[in-house]
Amino acid sequence: MSELINFAHRGAAGHRPENTMVSFQYALELGATGIETDVQMTRDGHLVLIHDESLQRTTGSPAWVKDVTLEELRLLEAGSWYDEKYRGERIPTLEELLELVRQAGRRVVLNLELKNGLIQYPELERKMIDAVRAFGLSEQTVISSFNHYSLVECKALAPEIKTGILYMEGLYEPWKYAGSIGAEALHAIQYAVRPEFVAEATAHGVAYHPFTVNEIHEMTALIQAGVAGIITDYPDRLAGLLSN
Ligand code: G3P
Ligand code: MG
Repeated sequence: MSELINFAHRGAAGHRPENTMVSFQYALELGATGIETDVQMTRDGHLVLIHDESLQRTTGSPAWVKDVTLEELRLLEAGSWYDEKYRGERIPTLEELLELVRQAGRRVVLNLELKNGLIQYPELERKMIDAVRAFGLSEQTVISSFNHYSLVECKALAPEIKTGILYMEGLYEPWKYAGSIGAEALHAIQYAVRPEFVAEATAHGVAYHPFTVNEIHEMTALIQAGVAGIITDYPDRLAGLLSN
């Protein structure tokens, strides 16, 4: 069980403002062995870590990520919406997180979720892969997306980097589908996961990494089912379970 990957969702989003450097750093302090984050692109082509296409919810700016430059985006403040004590946090660049993981001093698995369902960011896949390779993190990265065409493109560009199929419900025999597009993992909403599915997927060499699993009883059931990883806002809770 100890090899199960403890993916911190948007960092330690249950304790810190999501997708900020303090959230990623705290996730590592809490024992996360993986970090999930969301990747979008600025108008001038820089990859940045933010869940929403709009800047409104976490910074108060009405603009969209795709319409601002990196310089403009970096002036925004992305911590105080969560708690005043995190005022001053910025939206990180992908490179900042890659550097944190490279310097972690232990193996941390990266789950880079491409947010390209609503918006087709030009060259998003290639730019992300170039960055992961430049930091030497290909072996410890899983690229995921709800846009499965994008996963196919990533696999063609970088066969050595794992891909994970994000889906919400009812995908029929997803381990077969995963095989058909070369994906190594299923990033399913937890309610779409059954123990017999996990057994089938595992037998086909496909890993389940369900999201977003925050309750202890849910984590326990998925651990017993044999999932390979769990994506959670509370990596501390999962770390506690796994250490027992
Ligand atoms: O990658 C798992 C999860 O983050 C997918 O949903 O909306 O939280 O990005 P969302
Ligand atoms: Mg995500």
